[in-house]
Amino acid sequence: MSPIFYQILHVSSLIVLLGYTFYAFAAPAETRKKVLMITGVASLLMLVSGIGLLHKLQLGFPGWAMAKLVAWLGLSALAGVAFKRRAQANVLMMVGFVLAIGAVTMAYLKPF
Ligand code: HEM
Repeated sequence: MSPIFYQILHVSSLIVLLGYTFYAFAAPAETRKKVLMITGVASLLMLVSGIGLLHKLQLGFPGWAMAKLVAWLGLSALAGVAFKRRAQANVLMMVGFVLAIGAVTMAYLKPF
């Protein structure tokens, strides 16, 4: 599989993960199972494509990838939390933005 395949998969799953994670803050309770299933699959695809990219681009496992892994962990947990803590939606959405933007910044700047 070529790096471009992993890149498209990585960014596509990011779009789905972010879309459904933010939807979770306003989604009806009965959609919880479906939303968590979709974010779960998207999150897994993000990880697989991210690891695939590290391998294909022969990057090893640098510090910025570790930081992205931490951001990925937080973002992956967010949809589940979103259904339970509606009262904290504003703060949690801000956390989501910080994690996602932080991970994007790591990919482009690779500061460490
Ligand atoms: C919150 C989670 C994440 C976000 C928002 C994110 C976002 C992105 C974005 C926007 C790119 C640039 C795509 C491109 O230029 O082709 C990228 C590239 C990449 N990501 Fe992620 N990513 C996340 C998680 C991960 C994880 C968990 C890993 C692996 C442990 C990973 C590894 C990579 C690698 C290796 C690249 C390629 C860097 C390069 O082209 O030099 N990412 N990521």
